[in-house]
Amino acid sequence: MSGVAVAPERVRLGGLTTLKVGGPAELWTVGNEADLREATAEPFFVLGAGSNLLVSDAGVAERVVRLGQPYATLAAFDGSADVWLGAATPLPGLVRRAQRAGLSGLEGLLGVPAQLGGAVAMNAGTRFGSLSDTLVEAEMMVSGDLVRLPADALGLRYRHSELPPGAVLTRVRLRLSASTPERVAAAMTGVDAARKGQPKIKSAGCAFKNPAGESAGRLIDRAGCKGLRVGDAMIAHEHGNFVINLGAATSRDVDELLEAVQGRVSVALDLEWRRWGGPDGEPPQPGWRARAQRVEG
Ligand code: FAD
Ligand code: EPU
Repeated sequence: MSGVAVAPERVRLGGLTTLKVGGPAELWTVGNEADLREATAEPFFVLGAGSNLLVSDAGVAERVVRLGQPYATLAAFDGSADVWLGAATPLPGLVRRAQRAGLSGLEGLLGVPAQLGGAVAMNAGTRFGSLSDTLVEAEMMVSGDLVRLPADALGLRYRHSELPPGAVLTRVRLRLSASTPERVAAAMTGVDAARKGQPKIKSAGCAFKNPAGESAGRLIDRAGCKGLRVGDAMIAHEHGNFVINLGAATSRDVDELLEAVQGRVSVALDLEWRRWGGPDGEPPQPGWRARAQRVEG
């Protein structure tokens, strides 16, 4: 039996999410594949930048696994169009770097406060583009094995992926296209403008997915829910699909608020957020194994 290489810490998950809601958990920050193998030997959740999560006030009994600094490889991005990056690389920094290098493909993701791995898992995007536009393949640990899967095996759709059960993305390969810094910057202006109506206060982005052909924010707005408040959780005045934390919101406040909203909107809305300590599980993808390429090491 080898000794424990990763030292787990007790944390409050509210401190690691953008909504600032969530109770205690055991956090395993891993710096290499051996650590990751050890950390994922028991039931776990994977944490990225915590920008799309609603975590229960009770916390989670599962381990929370987070990729450490060695997986944040923005500094190694040399401006190549075809690039492998660590899954903990901060997306906002990458979007800016790509612009400066005159590489196009990520500008639609301006303003998404994700890590690269979380952006793949959610297929983050805006109407100007999604992560899946540039993704070629991804490396991940699944049941202790490091494997690679091509992008088209990941079931990426609007705010949706079908990673193998228990997969932890470790590295991601993107293919960007040659442009100029000026052209990419000009495209970003439009993306930025589309975000002007979003609140600046603590949130986890849009709570619900847009139903086909509609905007959940508009539906919530029309149902008169802006300013609706439970405890310190409130529907933002700026945008109906943003739940903001006015200071001390609890997951119970947020849940009650979401229920109240759903009660007033006639269309059934699907939660975009991932819930931890709630009813949501990660969707399995049958057949992924046949397409996985084993990575040595
Ligand atoms: P987390 O929130 O930490 O996790 C989300 C999911 O990804 C979880 O299921 C987690 O287990 C999984 N995950 C994370 N890392 C990995 C990994 N390495 N391997 C496997 N699974 C992993 N989203 C949009 O799509 N478009 C937007 O315009 C947008 N705007 C936003 C604006 C604000 C102000 C905020 C706060 C959020 C916004 N979001 C938006 C939501 C959020 O940024 C995205 O969903 C993002 O992709 C989440 O990434 P993350 O790293 O924070 O993941
Ligand atoms: N609208 C209202 N009232 C509101 C909100 C929106 O009338 O309270 C109207 C707007 O005026 C506009 C339409 O609804 O005519 C669409 O609104 P917006 O442009 O804000 O886009 P959205 O569909 O609400 C989506 C994404 C955002 C992304 C923006 C910008 C989803 C669920 N939301 O919002 O993504 O940033 O487009 O492209 O797909 C996220 O996923 O977390 C997220 C923030």
